[in-house]
Amino acid sequence: MKKPKAHGDKPVAEMTLAQARREHRRLGEEIAAHDARYYQEDAPTVSDAEYDALRRRYGEIEEKFPQLSSSESLTKTVGAKPSEKFAKVRHAVPMLSLGNVFSDEEVVEFVARVRRFLGLSEDAPLAMTAEPKIDGLSCSLRYEKGELVTAATRGDGYEGEDVTANVRTMREIPARLEGSPPDVLEVRGEVYMTHADFFALNARQEEAGKTLFANPRNAAAGSLRQLDAAITASRPLHFFAYAWGEVAPQLPARTQHGVIEAFAAYGLPVNPLTRLRHTAQELVDHYRRVEEMRASLPYDIDGVVYKVDEIALQERLGFVSRAPRWAVAHKFPAQEATTVLRGIEIQVGRTGALTPVARLDPVTVGGVVVANATLHNEDEIARKDVRVGDTVRLRRAGDVIPQVLGPVLEKRPADAAPYVFPDHCPVCGSAALREIDAKTGEADVVRRCTGVLVCPAQAIERLKHFASRDAMDIEGLGEKQIEQFFNDGTIRTAADIFTLSERDRTQLKKLKDREGYGEVSARNLFGAIEARRAPPLNRFIYALGIRHVGETNARRLARHFGSFAALRETARAAAPESEARAEINNIDGVGPVVAEAVADFFMEPRNEAALDALLAQVEPTPMEAIVASSPVAGKTIVFTGALARMTRDEAKAMADRLGAKVAASVSKKTDLVVAGEGAGSKLAKARELGIETVSEEEWLELAGRGA
Ligand code: IVH
Repeated sequence: MKKPKAHGDKPVAEMTLAQARREHRRLGEEIAAHDARYYQEDAPTVSDAEYDALRRRYGEIEEKFPQLSSSESLTKTVGAKPSEKFAKVRHAVPMLSLGNVFSDEEVVEFVARVRRFLGLSEDAPLAMTAEPKIDGLSCSLRYEKGELVTAATRGDGYEGEDVTANVRTMREIPARLEGSPPDVLEVRGEVYMTHADFFALNARQEEAGKTLFANPRNAAAGSLRQLDAAITASRPLHFFAYAWGEVAPQLPARTQHGVIEAFAAYGLPVNPLTRLRHTAQELVDHYRRVEEMRASLPYDIDGVVYKVDEIALQERLGFVSRAPRWAVAHKFPAQEATTVLRGIEIQVGRTGALTPVARLDPVTVGGVVVANATLHNEDEIARKDVRVGDTVRLRRAGDVIPQVLGPVLEKRPADAAPYVFPDHCPVCGSAALREIDAKTGEADVVRRCTGVLVCPAQAIERLKHFASRDAMDIEGLGEKQIEQFFNDGTIRTAADIFTLSERDRTQLKKLKDREGYGEVSARNLFGAIEARRAPPLNRFIYALGIRHVGETNARRLARHFGSFAALRETARAAAPESEARAEINNIDGVGPVVAEAVADFFMEPRNEAALDALLAQVEPTPMEAIVASSPVAGKTIVFTGALARMTRDEAKAMADRLGAKVAASVSKKTDLVVAGEGAGSKLAKARELGIETVSEEEWLELAGRGA
């Protein structure tokens, strides 16, 4: 199968480091922009497939050039933040996402990677389950002593919406489990709607003059996430159980398939197409079979999920940021259609990037009506020679807005002219340039508005980011409000947000008298702002919108520095080649690209001034240590010698999970040395420096995985 690429760019295998660095950076920004559009604006401009392709290319680059593997800002976001209407439920165990693969080769790679991580010998067996990937919405059902007590949507993976009342109306979900389930059992699975029910529902919607649902998944989501459970009750929803969260005192089986069988015995619906397989070839064979059945299944599936069967191995494999190492989704290829390109609109993002968006004659692709699509960037438009008026081929998979593949030349109108990409910002009129890489002399694919501090589009986008859910999380200060406050001059900088209420007191026209506001909503907004004067350090760092510093990197910086002052001091001194730069660079997971961006941000005098103003208003609080109880949290560990019971990767992942940092060499900063068989000079050095050393067995003990 052909691998979908982000665009026709150079294969990663042929890239030089400089090209990879640029592409990595560009992809990072593009992905972050899509994340923002998807999660904060509910207005994605690309299809799932396109988005996946970007992430994959990003990942491929990091794999080939591990020195770039740092901007993990992107690898964390999982889903949408819960809507405000429902009560929130904190998941005892986070509900994470799955990595995707698209080709047989990648399945082979996945299996090989798992085997390598576990250090399995060539002939050691490895059982895996293969099950359909249901295209619905995931839901966590908490049973205590066999009784359903709560049901929650995934939300952002950490906190979801309480949909207990709604789930209680679903006939397929037992209110009481049969047999003898564990005292606490969080069952996770997919809520979905069948095709027949979806069409019937839409017919009813149409009759009632209500909006139609785009696809069964949206219909299922819309039906479950109803404040009025009576509406949910009137909509036929189904469920398949395929995973679990908290379980106590223990799981009913030691394998994935065993647990699923137990779920079935408790009376929960499980998917009948789940199979146990042993090699990549067998997995792929099953995938083909399921793909053939796809059209005749009564519900939507968008791929096949493979999971390592043995739970002890799942635990050893653990997670990387947002997805398990022990599972992967093998997605089906995307669907295509053609339509007419009516116009190209240029959007200006937070970093000034000019992004072209295709406006299309609405067309149905795989059951979804599509009117917008991404055109990626200037080079892509030129390379494909896409012209306004052209009939274009579109592709989408699974989600709302697809990508333009290219024009259908036979249908090109005689007067269609090549598209000229603007060289000025459509919002502020500043020159829009493509940065030239100092080392390679090549132009960046992204054209950026140079009016960083004068461009209203950039300023507005920065403010939106600052106040957004994952950043400062200021309720009532959404996109629309920010645009309004910005345009009337009330809020121009982040610091302005915090002086709003004070200024309002002396204002003639008060907020409460403005259109869209009243006594209560004005008071609520001031209250929400007040409540954010001591933001968690990681959120504050993320909110600043430093390039390449997404949530994950913000957390890394916060954890490493502990306080904003410490970060600022080091970053200010972080000239290239300096010790300070090296310190940032050496934070586990952070690398040169991020270190450079952080240094650039703090060394820019205008940012300094804005920060001073902001820090006069807010005081970030140091972040809570994530693994406070771990005996090695916050420590720096060096592994040396041969490890017998785990691979290096696994040891490192374990340390990561426990909140420890792993360093390559022993120094005064090392807290612990784990010495395997045949450890030599590093062990000697540790002894010389009086650093604590432990054996591999003792390390496993510490890590809670003793024999
Ligand atoms: S396992 C830690 N199995 O796909 C892994 N997920 O793209 C938990 N999904 O969030 C997920 N069918 O909503 C798993 N058989 C299946 C699935 C499945 C559908 C959804 C689920 C998940 C998303 C990840």
